Order: sequence, then C-alpha cells, then structure tokens
Amino acid sequence: MRTQVAIIGAGPAGLLLGQLLHKAGIDAVILERQTADHVLSRIRAGILEQVCIDLLDEAGVGERMHREGLTHEGFELLIDGRRHRVDMAALTGGKTVMVYGQTELTRDLMDARAAAGLPTVYQAGDVAVHDFDTAQPRVHYTRDGQRHEVVCDFVAGCDGFHGVCRASVPRARVTEFEKVYPFGWLGLLADTPPVNDELIYVNSARGFALCSQRSHTRSRYYLQVPLTDRVDSWSDDAFWAELRLRLDDEANARLVTGASLEKSIAPLRSFVTEPLRFGRMFLAGDAGHIVPPTGAKGLNLAATDVKYLAGALIEYYQERSEAGIDGYSARCLKRIWRGERFSWWFTHLMHHFPEDGAIGERFQQAELDYLLHSESGLRTIAENYVGLPLDFVA
Ligand code: APR
Ligand code: PHB
Repeated sequence: MRTQVAIIGAGPAGLLLGQLLHKAGIDAVILERQTADHVLSRIRAGILEQVCIDLLDEAGVGERMHREGLTHEGFELLIDGRRHRVDMAALTGGKTVMVYGQTELTRDLMDARAAAGLPTVYQAGDVAVHDFDTAQPRVHYTRDGQRHEVVCDFVAGCDGFHGVCRASVPRARVTEFEKVYPFGWLGLLADTPPVNDELIYVNSARGFALCSQRSHTRSRYYLQVPLTDRVDSWSDDAFWAELRLRLDDEANARLVTGASLEKSIAPLRSFVTEPLRFGRMFLAGDAGHIVPPTGAKGLNLAATDVKYLAGALIEYYQERSEAGIDGYSARCLKRIWRGERFSWWFTHLMHHFPEDGAIGERFQQAELDYLLHSESGLRTIAENYVGLPLDFVA
C-alpha cells in the first residue's frame, strides 16, 4: 500500500491528524494495534481548552461537542476544609473550558473518519517503522496472519507512551526527561449527578481528591493513593467513604454515590522526549510527552502538537516548503514545556508529599495561602488552566 502519511495510533492525536490532513486533501492510513471498542473503553480526562475546541471545529467534528459539552467558567479549590473559587472567565478576560469526555471526542473522530471512508487498520500487529531517515519510509504490520507494507512520505508517531515509534529511534538521538510521582490516582466513574456544578480540586489532610464530571448525570472522582495500592482492594464503598473524608460538609450533603462503571489506578508521570522529529518521522501526543493529570493538559497538548504537525505537512504538500516540518519540534516543545511546568506545579500544590517532611507541608500551605489571597496568584492558575496561547515569542 502507498500513502502520503502513515499515522501510527488511533487515539485522539492520530484520529485528529487524519481528519485535518483529509480536509487538506492529503492521504493518510492509520494503523492501530487495538480494536476500536478497546480504544473507546479507555477512560481519560475530559477538559478541553478553547484551542482544542477550535481545532475540533476546524476538523469538522465539533457538532456534538457543542451540543453536549458543558462550558465551565470556573472551578473550586477546597483547601483544608475551605472553598476558594477560581473564576477563570473573570481572571482571563472571558476564557472558559469545556467538559467533554475524551471517549466522546474519540468516538466523534472515529465516526467522521468512517463516514468519509478513510482507511484505518485496527488490530494491526507488530507494527515496525523503517527508513524514516530516507525520503521513503516504510511501515510493516501484521493483520489476519499476513504481513503488510505501507510505503509513505512521512510517519506520524501518535502511538502513545508505550508506542513503537519513539522506541524505534536509536537511543543516542533521543533525550528523555522524566519524573515519576510517589503516588497514583484512583479514579471512579459513576452514573450519578455530579456533586457540584463545577470541578472541585481538593487538598485535604488525607491527600488530594478531585470531583469531576462527564455530563449532568455522569460523575468522575479521583483519590490520591499510594502506588502500592491495588484497585481490587478498593471496593466502591471504600472509595466513597474515603472521598467523604476528604470533602467538606456542603459537598457531603450533595454527594450521590452509586455503582462504579469503571475504576482504575493511574500512576502520575512527567515525561518529555527531545526532539520530536527524526528525519521523516514525527512524534505527537503521548508518544512524545506525558503530564500528570492534575491540570488536565494531556489531551490539550496532544491537540496542539497535531495542529502544528498538520500545518507543517500541509505547507510541505501545498507550498513545497520544509520550513514547517523543520520547525515542528522546537515549536511544539516550547508549548509542551509550559504545559509540563504547570502540571508539575499544580500537582505539587495539591498533593501530599510525605517525603518532603513537615517543612514541605508548611511551604505548600504558605504557597497556597499566598496564591489564594492574591489576584495575580489566582490569575496565574486561571490562565494556565484555560490554556496558554498557541505560540510564544522566543
Ligand atoms: N502499533 C499501533 N498502535 C499502537 C502501538 C503500536 N505499536 N502502540 C500504541 N498504539 C496505539 C494505542 O493502542 C492507542 O490507541 O496508539 C494509540 C495512542 O493513543 P493515546 O494513548 O490515547 O495517545 P494520544 O492519541 O497521544 O492521546 C493523548 O490521551 O493519554 C491521554 O492524557 C493523554 O489525553 C491525552 C491523550
Ligand atoms: C477528568 O474528568 O477525568 C479530569 C478532569 C480534570 C483533571 C483531570 C481529570 O484535572
């Protein structure tokens, strides 16, 4: 098979790239290791920045998102039993975010791809990328016991943190920056009305908690737990009981509990690969970087990578200019590091770090005390949360 761009991975990054390229008349094939149902079964965050909303509109897949997504103008911080509202809209000149689950967004992208009759190979096994340093990269995969070859101009590595693209680059050409946090998030999804209209980020004596939502009838909650905890040892009852201990009276009075639809523990990690381009192969989304989920930046950073990458490839095909692909890595990394910094900082501000000792706890309390009583402090949180501009002056 011959195509212009071979996209590895049908997560949000790969699917969005496929849609933007299609709009520009560029051919692409997506190779995905899992089934479509499996991709849709992964529960991830669901807070979209305006930049991401605009991009989904540009890709022509925003209709259901605008109908069903919930616009949020603020969120709450519950610190040591006291609420503080971060009025995002007021602090950022009217900017807001949208609550719309990554699963729904992925489904919209899959449906649009299927409706346009674009090729996606699910259950593509043993994907291997070759010759990305030449003008004609090749990708091999196995399907139904048969080995296939895709010959292309470019490879887009949208295959997530455990993907094959980054792993195919010789170690000497990659620099990886990584921090693993000493705890995880235990998440629970339930068909119960959210405890609050807006999200509540909680820093309590028992650790971090988050009250999030997918819709007016579906809630998502998280608890900071030790990395040694196993999800099987957390019954639904135990989860709700621990959540109650971290919330305030007002939230406890409104909390509706119910059977979990999904429960899982995710480790927290900050990770960046440099560079993001290797000859004719590019990394985008989780393949190139991971953030802890505290600021909900993962999907939004993936979306901007894709915006830059689609723009660079369109420029290459329409204008025969390599300026975009040459600048891709540096341009992306600038924004990625801003998102990484915020996610790391917000994680530090809101979680318990027992190994930092009593002085670490006092530093955290003093920092929160300062931020929550300073308009510039609150604005710093708000403007990062709604999403920084697409480009920064060098
Ligand atoms: N061959 C083919 N496909 C692969 C391979 C492989 N060797 N390895 C991984 N994949 C697929 C995975 O099955 C997955 O569907 O690549 C896809 C990567 O999707 P995601 O992990 O969702 O990553 P991405 O599209 O970059 O989306 C980023 O997801 O993890 C969140 O916080 C993150 O919200 C952000 C978003
Ligand atoms: C979620 O709804 O899953 C969610 C929301 C906000 C976050 C992280 C996760 O910061």
